[in-house]
Amino acid sequence: MTQYNFDDIINRQGTQAVKIESLDRMFGRHDVTPLWVADLDFAVCPRITDALARRLHHPILGYSEPSESYWQSIIDWEMHRHGFEVKREELSFVPGVVRGIAWAVNFFSSRGDGVVVQPPVYTPFTTIIRGNGRRIVENPLLPTADGYRMDLEGLRKVVAEEKPKMLILCNPHNPIGIQWDRDTMAELASICRAAGMVVVSDEIHGDLMLHGRRHIPYLSCGEDARATGVMLGAPSKTFNIPGLVSSWMVIKNEELRRPYYEWLEANEFNQPVLFSTIGAEAAYRNGEEWLDQMLKYVEGNLEFVADYVAENIPGLRIVRPQASFLVWLDFRALHMCQREIMDLLLDKAHLALNDGSMFGSQGEGFARLNIGTPRSVLAKALDSLRAAVCSVCPQEK
Ligand SMILES: Cc1ncc(COP(=O)(O)O)c(C=O)c1O
Repeated sequence: MTQYNFDDIINRQGTQAVKIESLDRMFGRHDVTPLWVADLDFAVCPRITDALARRLHHPILGYSEPSESYWQSIIDWEMHRHGFEVKREELSFVPGVVRGIAWAVNFFSSRGDGVVVQPPVYTPFTTIIRGNGRRIVENPLLPTADGYRMDLEGLRKVVAEEKPKMLILCNPHNPIGIQWDRDTMAELASICRAAGMVVVSDEIHGDLMLHGRRHIPYLSCGEDARATGVMLGAPSKTFNIPGLVSSWMVIKNEELRRPYYEWLEANEFNQPVLFSTIGAEAAYRNGEEWLDQMLKYVEGNLEFVADYVAENIPGLRIVRPQASFLVWLDFRALHMCQREIMDLLLDKAHLALNDGSMFGSQGEGFARLNIGTPRSVLAKALDSLRAAVCSVCPQEK
């Protein structure tokens, strides 16, 4: 067994990394530790980079056609990892999950139509809806003692009142890392099917289930889910290769699939670029050992953060994710407004975290921490955060 190293601090300067290059634009300064954009600071599995390098050594980079073994690698992965059956004709390439959602919104709804989101949720969902002249219909998550749950009664109500055409599901849910259970998704599917809605399920974090959980694809949640669902997946978060842009889509219902896939084909929106399919196939065929070790490391980071915060920053609370490498930090007990929280993080702790309010107004009082980084980086970041909190709330010592 190869032992992978996740402790090395890799300098990402000069690599066009958004996490670093956009610090000034997003945070107004660059002298901060970047713990925001959801990619990992870990080296990609060498089996992937070797496959890319091998192809790069051929002197011709002409037009390419994805191989049958590329498609089969996705089908095999979904069955092996999640027990989820995908047929070749149900699959399409899509150059980015956000683009896949945006095109689905354009294809399955019209200007003025409502699209449901469940905030706090990944920001581009609302950007897509607003930017394409659709109406945002909110069905906020309901806070519970240790996290959040989906408001199915609320969904029934907004569907009846606002008559939306679509719903964008985040499964598992970014920014909180919630795994939706089968019953919840089946109920959501039944509500949406009865209203003639299409459900776009963004499952980009689905391979990143923590503590041995198995991902539950929306399309595996019964007949209503199969009838309504457009599922988007990708090896990008899973294997830290989002720069290769190698996402894919599954639609089981032929009445939804055929016209949509014909439209994608006519516009060549479904055309992969060479390195995306090579990287994806290498990841799905040879990356599992790396992934399992990476998830163990992230679980260790999560325990580290949870213990540190409990012992040293009692005013702060973490919402434990069930999936992925993002931690929802709850600052509300410190009684600071959102501006003060972000100033504390940036100016006092020198940390660039995602502002909770970018996920919807329900995210006020929160920030999102990316723990997909070497533990030593997290340790330093938490020490800075503790000192910053102590400086504004001395009782926190
Ligand atoms: C829920 C979710 N969907 C989509 C994306 C981005 O996907 P892509 O880069 O394939 O557009 C992210 C990235 O953070 C995400 O968290």
